[in-house]
Amino acid sequence: MTASPDSSPDFAQVRAWLQAAQHVAVLTGAGMSAESGIPTFRDTQTGLWARFNPAELATEEGFRAQPELVWNWYAERRAAMAQVKPNAGHYAIAAYQQRHPGRLTVITQNVDGLHQKAGSTDALALHGNIFQDRWLDLCFHARHSGRVCAASHAQADNPPRCPDCGNMLRPDVVWFGEMLPPATLHAAEQAAQRCALMLVVGTSGEVYPAAGLAHQARQAGAKVVVVNPHASELDGVAHRVLRGTAAQTLPSLLADGV
Ligand code: APR
Repeated sequence: MTASPDSSPDFAQVRAWLQAAQHVAVLTGAGMSAESGIPTFRDTQTGLWARFNPAELATEEGFRAQPELVWNWYAERRAAMAQVKPNAGHYAIAAYQQRHPGRLTVITQNVDGLHQKAGSTDALALHGNIFQDRWLDLCFHARHSGRVCAASHAQADNPPRCPDCGNMLRPDVVWFGEMLPPATLHAAEQAAQRCALMLVVGTSGEVYPAAGLAHQARQAGAKVVVVNPHASELDGVAHRVLRGTAAQTLPSLLADGV
């Protein structure tokens, strides 16, 4: 790693863009939570997809084929995520939002809730929330009476099931091949098109439509800045790349005096 990013001319340029920006969007990925102790997906060896098969664990087909295996895998991740705390990067973003209400929008691919825990309560969670469940199929009662059973109606099991129709609960996250929540995606696209600066923090930029938001921001005339210790698919879209980690770079980048 070269000299700390704080002293680089690129860093100074990004600070100047931040000062001038009326609206800022921050697009985050798993790397944002790495320093909180949550593994990323694609980092070699340590990444989840280097150790587990995404087709088996992060698709509806995989869940239908092995519901118990998938449910237990998410239960382990939930338990681990419930133990960790936001890092200095999460807190820097939330503190900036408190100092500058309405000026920064957080758009996250993370399902861990750490932005929200740090105070960014209006974060747009594109890929859902691992601490929430929903029914796998349309509820039997909903089909007949329009009344959807509450998740609490489920009988304890791995995964929990509806005692009436056997419908299974599943984690309320977006799996491969699934649509993002339309209202959240729409709000994220609006933020991308409205911002004068987009910080892209801790994402490989390999997954769409999330990564497409950086392209939309650039096309709409925003400055795009990548914060990542390693090369990413979005480096080519960026006007500047800061080679540092989220917890190291964001506190000084978003500090007062901006
Ligand atoms: N600070 C900043 N970036 C980091 C850090 C750190 N401390 N540590 C790692 N990174 C970077 C890596 O270099 C990598 O580019 O974070 C990125 C993590 O990339 P992925 O593991 O691919 O995670 P992400 O981009 O969020 O994945 C997108 O894919 O598996 C699905 O739904 C899942 O939301 C996820 C989506």
